[in-house]
Amino acid sequence: MKDSIAVISDIHGNITALDTVLKEIRQRNIPRIVCLGDLIGKGPASCRVIDICREESSVVIKGNWDDVATRAHIESDFVRWFADQVDDERKMDLSSLPLCYNLMLGNKRIRFFHASQESPLI
Ligand SMILES: [Fe+2]
Repeated sequence: MKDSIAVISDIHGNITALDTVLKEIRQRNIPRIVCLGDLIGKGPASCRVIDICREESSVVIKGNWDDVATRAHIESDFVRWFADQVDDERKMDLSSLPLCYNLMLGNKRIRFFHASQESPLI
């Protein structure tokens, strides 16, 4: 299992789901986690999910919610409410997340991204 990777994504503030998945990953001795973003929104624990994903993952990619919720102007009241739950330091961290990540696994190159390598939205 030393070369295996767990890929997680779209946690959306759901700390219960994240804890459950991380427990399973540990039980399987999977040493590396790649998180494909969308840490915030929808669920009640965006900040805790950001902190845990940043600590537990080898890399975190920017998701569409991580992108939209860290913009200066947010059109959606729904998204703005969740963005307001996240402090500026964590927003800065989210806004600096990469859009893609390349990894060699054996002789295969794997590219990870949320929606595309150019944008977390499309
Ligand atoms: Fe998404």
